[in-house]
Amino acid sequence: MKLRKAVFPVGGLGTRFLPATKAMPKEMLPVVDKPLIQYAVEEAQEAGIEEFIFVTGRGKVAIENHFDHSYELHAILEGRGKTAELQAISEWMPPAGSVTYVRQGEPLGLGHAVWCARKIVGDEPFAVLLADDLILAETGCLKQMVALYERTGGNIVASMDVAREETKRYGIIDPKSLPEDAIIEVGGLVEKPRPEEAPSTAAVVGRYILQPSVFEHLSQFERGAGGEIQLTDALVKMIGEAPFHGLRFAGERFDCGDKVGFLKATIAFAMRRDDLAAGLRPYLQSLI
Ligand code: UTP
Repeated sequence: MKLRKAVFPVGGLGTRFLPATKAMPKEMLPVVDKPLIQYAVEEAQEAGIEEFIFVTGRGKVAIENHFDHSYELHAILEGRGKTAELQAISEWMPPAGSVTYVRQGEPLGLGHAVWCARKIVGDEPFAVLLADDLILAETGCLKQMVALYERTGGNIVASMDVAREETKRYGIIDPKSLPEDAIIEVGGLVEKPRPEEAPSTAAVVGRYILQPSVFEHLSQFERGAGGEIQLTDALVKMIGEAPFHGLRFAGERFDCGDKVGFLKATIAFAMRRDDLAAGLRPYLQSLI
């Protein structure tokens, strides 16, 4: 079945970015001149997604306004003949009626946030994109996953290799296939294993294509790591139900939920911009 819907969980507290995230969600933090959530929505659009479901918490208004038509600004820019700016605020806007918001209520974990979208997703496969995992790639990460999904169906997670001492920060895949394959057959998943216990160094990053059976598993409300309802725990139960693959995507992922990752993303994205790289390069060189 064609993948039409994507869920964007944006209900986390973003405590690592306080005070910036006191009154707005971290997904509205800009990398260069675009909020993280817009990068994720554009990646989904590139992959053919038609319906966009935001699971929100505090700061809902900022995200809703961002994906809404801004009549006043539009009229002012039009009146001043600012064509480029007009394009910058409108060309990526999802069409009317294609965006839905659902409130998570309490931030009980990523698994709980995904479960909150169950009625809007219904009985069809869907994508999940975590906007704080920002991915720089020639072909968007979700588009690469959709190409695999069209061949294999089932469940797919995006994966990248991490240093062994980093495994305790990620969900790690226990591969059934050869350890270095780009397409990994998932035999197991372990949440945040210690380096000596990690079954591989293939980590799960924030892009998923999931079958709707995940909602049944999530509705058990089992508390996992950190006392939160974890998506990984539900994914473990889905192994064996349908084909389950990890895709080592082509591209670079930045953990923008973390300050160093966010700063790296800002530099990497700015250095790819013709209008910014020349001004930034000498400054970066002077710092080193
Ligand atoms: P994180 O694990 O980064 O948690 O969430 P967080 O609360 O956002 O940030 P910190 O650790 O306090 O700084 C990963 C993703 O899951 C979403 C977040 O918005 C983020 O996109 N999430 C997490 C929810 O939507 N709801 C939750 O209850 C938890």
